[in-house]
Amino acid sequence: MSTATSLAQVAPANVPQPLYEFTDSPLLHRQQQQESNARSYPRRIPLALKRARGIYVEDVEGRQFIDCLAGAGTLALGHNHPVVVEAIQRVLADELPLHTLDLTTPVKDRFVQDLFGVLPEALRREAKVQFCGPTGTDAVEAALKLVRSATGRSTIITFQGAYHGMSQGALSLMGSLGPKQPLGALLGSGVQFMPYPYDYRCPFGLGGEAGVKANLHYLENLLLDPESGVPLPAAVILEVVQGEGGVIPADIEWLKGVRRITEQAGVALIVDEIQSGFARTGRMFAFEHAGILPDVVTLSKAIGGSLPLAVVVYRDWLDTWKPGAHAGTFRGNQMAMAAGSAVLDYLVEHRLADHAEAMGQRLRGHLTTLQKDYPQLGDIRGRGLMLGVELVDPDGARDAQGHPPAHRALAPRVQRECLKRGLILELGGRHGAVVRFLPPLIISGEQIDEVARRFADALVAAV
Ligand SMILES: Cc1ncc(COP(=O)(O)O)c(C=O)c1O
Repeated sequence: MSTATSLAQVAPANVPQPLYEFTDSPLLHRQQQQESNARSYPRRIPLALKRARGIYVEDVEGRQFIDCLAGAGTLALGHNHPVVVEAIQRVLADELPLHTLDLTTPVKDRFVQDLFGVLPEALRREAKVQFCGPTGTDAVEAALKLVRSATGRSTIITFQGAYHGMSQGALSLMGSLGPKQPLGALLGSGVQFMPYPYDYRCPFGLGGEAGVKANLHYLENLLLDPESGVPLPAAVILEVVQGEGGVIPADIEWLKGVRRITEQAGVALIVDEIQSGFARTGRMFAFEHAGILPDVVTLSKAIGGSLPLAVVVYRDWLDTWKPGAHAGTFRGNQMAMAAGSAVLDYLVEHRLADHAEAMGQRLRGHLTTLQKDYPQLGDIRGRGLMLGVELVDPDGARDAQGHPPAHRALAPRVQRECLKRGLILELGGRHGAVVRFLPPLIISGEQIDEVARRFADALVAAV
């Protein structure tokens, strides 16, 4: 019996877990001593992991956890899925070149065909792909350079709450000020922030259809009024569901409106699908919910089947940059491309977009039932298996829409109680008050029920 199989067997759903207590194990102690102060996840998820399979991970002390963080949404097929493992093993067994810069290979060629095969027809017809350095951030950097070179304009419109990565260009597009303030000037005046259609905390205090209309009117005015005071940008960049910003799904009419307005103004639309892409939201790409055609799509995370890979796909009218305009050494990871092809094939063959939609509805149903007894679950939102719950203080002062304030102290308590019950969840959003569910897309209905049961137990202990 392989170790991976035994992990799957020892961690079945519906078996009550003992409550875990967390101590300062030698590995965690050394990590704390030796790794940089910028380390992030280990602060809230103090685990040293040893094995992983499917939705489960096991730590060095033999405790099992359901992983609803899944490499920040990377592990579409969960940990060590057999098709991914086999694809990687085949690359090694056949002595394929592991590193090829951006030279082509049969593995790369197949990956591009697989990728183009899942693009919506209208985009596929005009698509070009650029392989980037192996992080989502580098795909965003490439997208920025692409639209600036092609339009001859330099500014970018981004949105409050946005997250596009951690390099200094991508960071300048970020809504959160925390990581930016210590750095001084980034792109500075080259970036214009606009309100995102955050329905529960509408920037116009309106919400619903009225909030969306006001939002679009504001954008239209900014782009089309010759005296708006804002230069016409090279592009508008957006996430269809803001992930790190608090799992905020953009309204479908808003997405259509942004596409209409940007087209009218001759401004490129960059859709960042790094987190929402590849079936997670119930469609292969989240922008497909609105039936829009972006000019540029940034892709990473799930596309490498757990290994690092990032690309930018764009319409050929933008392909005016010069040879070498976006280079980089690590753009030819063959194992990541082979694993990525395996993931894409599996997603299509097993209709995982539909499955993500159904599992998302099932989890949402559990959370909505729980909300009836726990007013601390202020807003349950997202698409497919990209779900979040904004925790609120029901006794706090209400905002313009009548909603209680975010409960910044409760969220880490809930996260900790989940961890004690063998459930890994991450926090995000304003004040870190949004509990995020990003499980592997292969999660079963019974496993969703178990996630909900552990979350409910944790909530009871935390409130
Ligand atoms: C929407 C979005 N864009 C870009 C990034 C940056 O990707 P990476 O962390 O791989 O650089 C992320 C990471 O979470 C993301 O969610």
